[in-house]
Amino acid sequence: MMRDLSESIASSMGCSEDALPYLDYILQDLRTLGSNPDIILNTIKEFFANPSELRLLDVGCGKGSCTVEAAKEGIDCVGIDAMEPFIDEARSNASVSGVMGKCEFIQGDAGTVLKTLGSFDVVLLGSVGPILGELEDSLNMIRGHVRDDGILILDEGRVVDIQEIMDISERCGFTLVRECLHDPSGFHSEYDEELTNIEKRCQELIRELPHKANVFLNYLESQKEEYEFLKTSFINSTMVFKPTRKECV
Ligand SMILES: C[S@@+](CC[C@H](N)C(=O)[O-])C[C@H]1O[C@@H](n2cnc3c(N)ncnc32)[C@H](O)[C@@H]1O
Repeated sequence: MMRDLSESIASSMGCSEDALPYLDYILQDLRTLGSNPDIILNTIKEFFANPSELRLLDVGCGKGSCTVEAAKEGIDCVGIDAMEPFIDEARSNASVSGVMGKCEFIQGDAGTVLKTLGSFDVVLLGSVGPILGELEDSLNMIRGHVRDDGILILDEGRVVDIQEIMDISERCGFTLVRECLHDPSGFHSEYDEELTNIEKRCQELIRELPHKANVFLNYLESQKEEYEFLKTSFINSTMVFKPTRKECV
């Protein structure tokens, strides 16, 4: 794997690069790696009456949890992710759900793969962080892939001031049309279960590969901090942008 790409994956997954080869094992029990498929699907349905006529691009799709849920609604989906094991799992999830015919999964660097793709009704950036660069670079890169009557969904932790996001998006040819903030308290039991499973898998790896114990202990420690943050301070924001209408002259 290219070094920059490894860095990008590690940073999006909140781990060190030496943990990457074990990530799919450690995260095998987790259905999603970030965004909640129900929230994403409900957002899409709010904006489109007939989802089955849509094409969706899921950038940094992980195991394809959102992609597959969208495909179940009849949406034609393309998912891109840099991690081959996640893409394999996404394909298998689509196949088990009977929607492989509605899904195409592409393994590679999102920035590179995007150049080979056209435009979509819905583009999703779901909990991917800066995989396409800072927000302004990401929106500039994505703009050409959102149809004029389409939407971009940005589902992330809210870290930047809303006015700054509106200013940046306007400069990139998007208008923020909706933001929904989610209360994390409804997800506490899910978070606890995820962390228990991560700990179990890390302990298995420590027993199997004791000489790598530090890698797994460090990862576990970082995940404990991450989940504590998710439960106490995290605010999830689902933002929807539409391409800015050009005035007729
Ligand atoms: C936190 S996960 C979110 C996955 C998915 N969107 C979800 O919400 O379940 C971030 C994903 O971005 C992927 N990723 C990181 N850098 C990437 C890049 N440069 N190109 C494509 N995918 C990348 C990772 O492999 C990982 O699957």
